[in-house]
Amino acid sequence: MGLISQETKDQVLAATDIVAVIGAYIDVKRAGPAYKALCPFHHEKSPSFNINPHRQRFHCFGCGKDGDAITFVREYENLTFSDAVKRLATRAGIAVVEDKLDPKEDKARRQRGRQLDLHREVAEFLHKMLFKREATHARDYLKSRGFGKEMAERWMIGWMPEDAKVFMDWARAKGFTGRELVDSGIFVQKERGGVYVRFRDRLMIPIRNEHGDVIAFTGRQLREDPRSGKYINSPETVLFKKSNVLFALERARKAILNENAVVICEGQLDVICCHEQGIEHVIGSQGTALTPNHARLLGRYAKKGAIVCFDADKAGFAATEKAFRALAEEDIPVRVARMPEGDDPDSYLRKHGPDAFRQILAGAVNFFDFLIERATAENRLADLQQRSAFARECASLLAAVQNPVSREDMINHVATRLRTGAPELRDAVLRAARGAKNKPPERVRGDAAPEPEKVEAFDIDPVVAYLCSLALHSTAAQEWLGEQFETLHEAADHLAGVPLLETILSARPDATSHVAVNSFVAGLTEGQRQALISDPTFHDDPPEDPVAAAASAVGELSAKVLHRRDQDIKAQMGRPGLAPDEMIRLLHEAKRIAELLKGVDQRFVFSDRFAPSRKPAPKPFRRGNPSGSGPEISP
Ligand code: UTP
Ligand code: MN
Repeated sequence: MGLISQETKDQVLAATDIVAVIGAYIDVKRAGPAYKALCPFHHEKSPSFNINPHRQRFHCFGCGKDGDAITFVREYENLTFSDAVKRLATRAGIAVVEDKLDPKEDKARRQRGRQLDLHREVAEFLHKMLFKREATHARDYLKSRGFGKEMAERWMIGWMPEDAKVFMDWARAKGFTGRELVDSGIFVQKERGGVYVRFRDRLMIPIRNEHGDVIAFTGRQLREDPRSGKYINSPETVLFKKSNVLFALERARKAILNENAVVICEGQLDVICCHEQGIEHVIGSQGTALTPNHARLLGRYAKKGAIVCFDADKAGFAATEKAFRALAEEDIPVRVARMPEGDDPDSYLRKHGPDAFRQILAGAVNFFDFLIERATAENRLADLQQRSAFARECASLLAAVQNPVSREDMINHVATRLRTGAPELRDAVLRAARGAKNKPPERVRGDAAPEPEKVEAFDIDPVVAYLCSLALHSTAAQEWLGEQFETLHEAADHLAGVPLLETILSARPDATSHVAVNSFVAGLTEGQRQALISDPTFHDDPPEDPVAAAASAVGELSAKVLHRRDQDIKAQMGRPGLAPDEMIRLLHEAKRIAELLKGVDQRFVFSDRFAPSRKPAPKPFRRGNPSGSGPEISP
């Protein structure tokens, strides 16, 4: 990553007003010569977060956070220093001067930039198409759903024509290449060559990231056609990682902070409808299960609580439980809004209006009360035996609650409501919590239980874990390791975890981008993810010379493999009743390994860097790398 020059940093700060910057994220009130706000970095009821416009700095007397506009953006958005500077530079219209530029990383960044341009232009083009004569039926459809022209403008709703040629001609005239359009997911590559447009005669809703950039589309069918889905979404691309994106978060942020809650709906049109009716703390999970990444994203704005507002059907209940698990991990309290069966927020709002919907939200009940309510309705809590069985079913959900105080509260609450013993429930929760580390969570109830997430422990050798960290944090190390294919492949038979390293090296996530690395890690199995993030080197900055570090670790790896092979052979030779020719083969093999071992740099063999005790922990990575390079991963 290129280094931001001091000059650029000074320029950016000079052109930036810290009050305006912070005011764009949170509500800021004037207080004499200074400004005050509720601190976004810790929980508080009265504002101790101060902004000094003269010094252009903020300071929180509550939690001690302190800094300038760059620090604020960096902390609030979870960015690296250079990304925070760039964000402010764009805002101020300043060109960023970087001291040195790695051509590979520069290329990746340019590709992302190009995709952002493409998505923005496509959204604008499709929006214009909505007002063409050929799109009358699309506008009629919008009208039938209660949406007028202004709404279409506010959300930049578009229309993709039936005739693919219209889009293709436009794209060609704009200079977007076929490759770029395939990369964007708007074109689909045919197996036998050629491309087609993924969306046809669809209402096109742009999906934006937290910063408001269009990064994907969802297209709703205008005429019912069972041969294709009601909605078609962009696939995963360099810009769009489904598990990282929540629909309308960029618009809802402020309202979420003001209302001390976020409302999570399933559909994009539900979200749009809510916002249009003045209920703006609403975001959309876009029909997918809420992932731990989503919950982490929400944790930045909605620590106070989430109201889940999914369909009142089996799929909706399962999704609600999944959401609870993810949100509980982030210590976000979950309430459940209960809508009449068959309604979703959009249909309910149209029938009953915003006040009635606000009532529904206000009447949302705590997650466990919701579970108990449903079990009661299904007549599953009639006697003590049933109630105890149900309590046990709750244990795995309670075990997902990370905060011990909230967990204890909930255990007591559930036990009281079920009139069963709290100590037994507590035991069951502890067992479930322990079990959750190496086995999938219990199914909560028969048929409608959510698909349990498989948490199979993933064993990984410390050297392999270190190489994984290097490959994820440094492009250079990733490339170099990519060339060590054979060495690594051979190691796979002897050391645990090598397939994960191979996965990383073949997926090649962009090591310069937190987002790319985080979403790659989030896409791994839970066991692999745990194995990675529980390795201490994963959280360190990359070493000064990542390739040298990788080479040295591969040396250790080879030495370790040889030792393992040596031990294997010796164990085999010790077996009684070995046939003579087999013995000869083993002797030859042992001799060959002994020779190879002689050739290995002894430094590797006796290195204690990866000794299992790790006490005192040797530090292969240098902390506090002043260049700020390398993503800091928040697991
Ligand atoms: P629903 O089927 O509940 O649709 O799917 P909806 O939001 O009420 O849509 P309308 O009101 O009929 O237009 C909920 C969400 O699941 C995703 C979409 O994000 C949708 O909004 N979905 C649904 C898909 O991605 N593909 C589909 O084929 C259907
Ligand atoms: Mn709907």
